[in-house]
Amino acid sequence: MIKIKTEKEIELMRESCRIVKETLDFVGRNIHAGMTTKEVDALVYKYITSCGAYPSELGYEGYPASSCVSVNEVVVHGVPSDRVILDGDIVSVDITAEKNGYHGDACRTFLIGNVSEQKRRLVKVTEECFFKAIEGLQAGVPLFDIGHRVQTHAEANGYSVVRALTGHGIGSEMHEDPAVPNYGKAGTGMRLKSGMTICIEPMINMGTYKVNFSREDGWTVTTADGLPAAHYENTVLIKDDGVEILTL
Ligand code: MF3
Ligand code: CO
Ligand code: CO
Repeated sequence: MIKIKTEKEIELMRESCRIVKETLDFVGRNIHAGMTTKEVDALVYKYITSCGAYPSELGYEGYPASSCVSVNEVVVHGVPSDRVILDGDIVSVDITAEKNGYHGDACRTFLIGNVSEQKRRLVKVTEECFFKAIEGLQAGVPLFDIGHRVQTHAEANGYSVVRALTGHGIGSEMHEDPAVPNYGKAGTGMRLKSGMTICIEPMINMGTYKVNFSREDGWTVTTADGLPAAHYENTVLIKDDGVEILTL
């Protein structure tokens, strides 16, 4: 069931989304080579809780941390660990914060030190996929146009789009309907409505689109070929005359 948000609910979402954005800015200022992914997670926990919010990934279906910290070949849901971040890594940090009953969700992929031209380009194109997806987006646009635009831009650049995971609606729950795939056929799917809040989150691989789910921790998703992946996400409000990116 898709929940259309009231103006009051949107106000509350703006607040949690602002906290998510500020937390990612804080992480961006502090993340560096030599840190472990657990240390990044500690920064996230500290910042979000200092805002009077809750890092809603913590405990979500048993998830053990406040953030997903995904290095290089880890696509998403990298469980914070003793893995040390190295110079030249790309690290995506995906966080969700809840305040007053509403969630915000966003992800950035950070460049650590001296990153190869190849990986820089992957990160740049992944961000571009998001902005292509929201061009002209507004109430009435078919849902799968989003994925179509992401897929077209990624593949035009020689990359592949992860199929096994999607974006999603968001609000009083972290994951609401509808699923928002990063691939699809233009002109298909339900028509977006004003007051919908969705997470658009391209997950783009340098090589194959295929991924593996960790049997050890039950969460970590890696590329099947071990090549790097990037992830970029914002929470977006659909309006009659456009969109509002709540986590920017
Ligand atoms: N923030 C993630 C998303 O974009 C949710 C991760 S669920 C977790 O949907 F439990 F892995 F944290
Ligand atoms: Co997220
Ligand atoms: Co999300």
